[in-house]
This record gives sequence, structure tokens and C-alpha cells, in this order.
Amino acid sequence: MTTKTLTKLSTNPSVPVLPTSHFQGASTRAVHDGAIRSKPYHSLIEPIVQTSTYTFESSNDVCEYMETHGQGMAGDRIEYGRYGNPTVAAAEARLAALEGADAAILFSSGMAAITNVLFVLLSSGDHIVMTDDCYRRTRQFCQQILTRFQIQCTVVPMGDYEALEAAIQPQTRLLISETPTNPYLRVLDVERFATIARRHGVLSLVDSTFATPLNLRPLEWGVDLVIHSATKYLGGHNDLLAGVVAGRTELINPIREITGVLGSIPDPHNAYLLIRGLKTLSLRVTHQNCTGFEVAEFLEKHPAVETVWYPGLASHPDHKVAARQMAGFGGVVSFTIRGDLQTTSLFVDRLQIPYISPSLGGTESLVIQPALMSYYDVAPEERQRLGIRDNLVRLALGLEDSSDLIADLEQALAGVPLP
Ligand SMILES: Cc1ncc(COP(=O)(O)O)c(C=O)c1O
Repeated sequence: MTTKTLTKLSTNPSVPVLPTSHFQGASTRAVHDGAIRSKPYHSLIEPIVQTSTYTFESSNDVCEYMETHGQGMAGDRIEYGRYGNPTVAAAEARLAALEGADAAILFSSGMAAITNVLFVLLSSGDHIVMTDDCYRRTRQFCQQILTRFQIQCTVVPMGDYEALEAAIQPQTRLLISETPTNPYLRVLDVERFATIARRHGVLSLVDSTFATPLNLRPLEWGVDLVIHSATKYLGGHNDLLAGVVAGRTELINPIREITGVLGSIPDPHNAYLLIRGLKTLSLRVTHQNCTGFEVAEFLEKHPAVETVWYPGLASHPDHKVAARQMAGFGGVVSFTIRGDLQTTSLFVDRLQIPYISPSLGGTESLVIQPALMSYYDVAPEERQRLGIRDNLVRLALGLEDSSDLIADLEQALAGVPLP
């Protein structure tokens, strides 16, 4: 590459950002992996290219562009904001590097990532197998919306690999799972999952939102595609919505072509916020791994607490799998209070640090009682069938000190009448 070309590349804001080398340390990787060192205008930080469209010098320029790029295609030059954006491309390169993927695509939300990817991969007549205890809206999309397009879905119990394999049919195209799951933090044996998919010639997809690429990199265990709600740990500050899919080029390219048609694209300012969040991912997740562990251990010993689900605890059904494949167990702890729906609400209301709010992975701790939040509109019998207990609490730890969080839990539990 000549000096002239290099200068041109570094000042052209539409040039896709190429990953630099992979570093050893998680914090170094979070700050530098996937970032181009020479950014436009010699800026240290990726500029926010806040534009909805791009311009051409002349009609001749338009014709040349159409000949070399083709209409509506993302590439080293872009014609319109729905087909690409340099700040978004910079975020995608960082996300791909963190997951060890060839490429990644950023979407306007985690659900946009899931729905777009499934629409691209699946056709009428296809069949998918998914594990239960997954994000409610993902299951709703698969069971209620994909079926309208004659795409059938079989749900198998999480952790039952015989049932997973037995559910595969000649029309099966994709296996979908999540790890750790919401709300019981079940941990998928991703290697076993990927091996089953490969043995049957079907694709495997894992929603790794709760794990983050710091604690688990599913692609390294043989999974084909990894998805995140970047709204959670990746953004990390409870101030943006985004989603991402990462994987091999040949799987990502067809998805990218369709995103320009479906239009669930992120905006450049959100992409900038995400890049900013990613730089502290390692610091934040390391903190949350520690706090999660300490809070789970505290809760497990408390007489007002019935059961704790945290993959770091030896009592968790998937502790062995989690210990083998995860670098840390995350910052979400689920538990049941000894009491009913009302007693549990009383406990939640007594908490002073966590806000009552349905998200996770950010700076502020958040708490929900799933029966009153994500499953409020579900009849009690159906809630029971789905395993959502009335006395279940999901605590998503933020960046507060574990000593303060434990003191807060202690005072809230002290107000719960023991049965
Ligand atoms: C595991 C998981 N996947 C996907 C989503 C959807 O992400 P978003 O809210 O960014 O659309 C969520 C949201 O809570 C989630 O918890």
C-alpha cells in the first residue's frame, strides 16, 4: 500500500474499519481490538458521522459508483444511511473483534438482531429447534410470528441434549439457544450444542447477552452465529438500545444485504455510545462478576431466601458446565423469597439501591419480580407452566460496591415476615 493510498484511507470517513491484531488482555482488547488507529481528521475517538445520506460530485461520479458498488450495497463508499454508516461500521468492527468473528452487524435493538437474522436464514417450510427458559419475546417471535410464514418451531427443555437432537427433522435449518438464560441463568453447553448442530448439518445460534464476550465466546466453541442485546452489558450504561449478530463472513454478508431492505439499523450516535461503553466492558464485567458472586453467596445463606440461581454457585444445576466454559459468571442473580407474591413485592419495594426496571448489564443495579413485570399479562397457571414463580426476583447488578448492595439486601430482607 502506498503512502498516498494510506492517507486516502485514513481521511475517507466511509472506509470500513479493519480489525487490528488481537491482544491478550481483556481490558486491552476492549479498548483497542477492532479499532483503526488512524481515524479521520487524526481524531483519537471515532467521529460520529451524523448524516442520513451521502453526496456525489457529479452524475459521472454517480455512474462510477453504481458500476463499482451496485445500488444499495454497503462497502467502502455508501450512498444512503440505511445501507451503512462509518460510526456504525467502527462499532461493528470492535464487536466482531471482541467475539472473535469475521464480521458483525449492528441493529437498532436486540430483538431487531434476532428477527432480522431469522428472517434472512429461514424460508417457508423450514423448522427450528429452540431451548426453553429463553427471552420471552424471542420465543413469541418464533412461536407466533414465524409460524405465520410456515416456519415451525419445536421448544425443548434447556439442558436436555437428547431432546434437542431428537427434535431435529429433515427440514430443520437452525438450533437456537441462550446462555445464561433469563431468569434462571441456565448455562448451555455450547460445545455440545454446536457439535449436535454440525452433526446434522444445521446452523447454530446463541444469544449470549447475559454472558458477554468477556465471560464466553460461543464462536470459539463451534457455534455459527452469536447474538447480543447490546442494550445490556455491551452498551453498559442503561442509555442505549442496540443489538448485534457476529459470525463468519459467508453467514454475515447475506444478512447485511437484507438489513438495507428491512431497515432496523442503529443510528450513529447510539453506535458512538456503544463504542464508548465497549472500552470499559472488561472493567465493568469483572466488577459485576465479583459482585454477582458475593451477592449470590450472601443470599444463599439468608434464612428468608428459598433458592438462589447463580451459575457460580456449586448448587446451580449447570455449575460444572459454567465453570468449564465461562471466564466469569456475570452480574445477574435470581432468587425466590420465602413467601408469596405480596411478600416478595414488599421485599422489592424495601430495596433502596436497585431501581425497579426491566433491564440489566448497566451501571445502575436493577431489580424485577418477573411475575409483575415481564409476565404480568400472563395468566397465573400459564406463568406456573413457564416456571415463573410468584416469589421470584431477578437482581441485575450494576457497578455499586458489593458491601452496599449486600447491606441493602440485608435491610430489605429484614422487613420480610418469615413464614
Ligand atoms: C437475552 C435477551 N435477548 C434479547 C433481548 C432483546 O433485546 P432488546 O431489548 O435490546 O431488544 C433481551 C432483552 O431483555 C434479552 O434479555
